[in-house]
Amino acid sequence: MIAAIIAAAGSGERFGAAIPKALINCGDRTLIEHALASMSAVFDEIVITAPAGYEERFRELAGDRARVVTGGATRSESVRIGLAALPTSCEFVLVHDAARALASSDLTRRVIASLRSGDVAVIPGLPEIDTVKVVDGDGYVLSTPDRAPLRRVQTPQGFSYELLNRAYATGGDATDDAALVEKLGARVRVIDGEERALKITTPSDLATALQYLGTTNEFSTGVGVDAHAFAEGRELYLAGLHWPGEVGVDGHSDGDVAAHAICDALFAASNLGDLGSNFGTARPEYAGASGSQLLQETTRLVQAAGYSISHVSVQVIGNRPKIGTRRVEAIVALSSALNGADVALLATTTDGLGLTGEGKGIAAIASALIFKN
Ligand code: CTP
Ligand code: MG
Repeated sequence: MIAAIIAAAGSGERFGAAIPKALINCGDRTLIEHALASMSAVFDEIVITAPAGYEERFRELAGDRARVVTGGATRSESVRIGLAALPTSCEFVLVHDAARALASSDLTRRVIASLRSGDVAVIPGLPEIDTVKVVDGDGYVLSTPDRAPLRRVQTPQGFSYELLNRAYATGGDATDDAALVEKLGARVRVIDGEERALKITTPSDLATALQYLGTTNEFSTGVGVDAHAFAEGRELYLAGLHWPGEVGVDGHSDGDVAAHAICDALFAASNLGDLGSNFGTARPEYAGASGSQLLQETTRLVQAAGYSISHVSVQVIGNRPKIGTRRVEAIVALSSALNGADVALLATTTDGLGLTGEGKGIAAIASALIFKN
């Protein structure tokens, strides 16, 4: 069997956030989730080393994809603890840094392929592009090593389980796993690494990582508003739900002001027109469509234009209905119409003022955050 250890127990001191580095978001998920996503498909067993006190949070994020153990004071200690948690029946072990969150699953597969072809230790590396100097304690140059044979090494690093166990049993400490294996005299093979497997150490590294995800500077936002007057005898549809016992609103659609406001926010963010220009007389098949149907079709149009929907928030303005008790249900309905986008649903009254405050109708205002793929 093949196992993986993801070292994620560091605090991320150089990054300088209030939470452990592996819990920082990069695009749509945390670093540890990125690392897990690129490894989950390949391993029989994955162990994550988490910082003390954060084990439960890591368990929530990992679900049944990995086991979580408490890491140690140094990276080497953490890996030693992770190794002890693996079954002795392992054939190969890969050790990966959560900080190299964007390493691809292709890289993982190439490390394993090299192990299967007979190597006992395999590490990814890239050629050094800078000239490297060796300096003394006062900052004076001692020597200039030839650059050509230098490699900047990365993770995941793969080993025969037996060899890595022996290397860690020495009690040694090093900044990568291969260094301990080298001390035993084993042959360590360097295969081609990847730029995207960069180690995220500082906020500027995170900005670089976001470029690999294609999500920098490509965000756009939009706002949308809708309002309808109450009409006795009509059923109420709001935020993707039917509200039995509530008074409905006027209009030839189902009058779901929350859904309509979100559609306009999405059209605004993607600059694709508005509800009227997209679903008006030009597309008679959408006359009388439900709010959920319009949301689904808007989502399709926005995605077809090359965008992903990151987040949508909508605030319902009116005295009735009371949103509170059905908030979660409505968020699920809206989010599923939006292909799983993150949704926030809020509600407010207006202190008796205006169309909504006087109880004459209901309104909604929405905002959308989308990004170009
Ligand atoms: N790591 C670990 N246990 C430790 C220290 C580090 O498992 N005691 C992990 C980190 O979570 C990270 C990887 O080893 O995924 C590489 O370490 P590094 O990038 O240095 O992360 P941090 O130690 O968290 O950062 P810093 O050194 O800036 O505090
Ligand atoms: Mg560190």
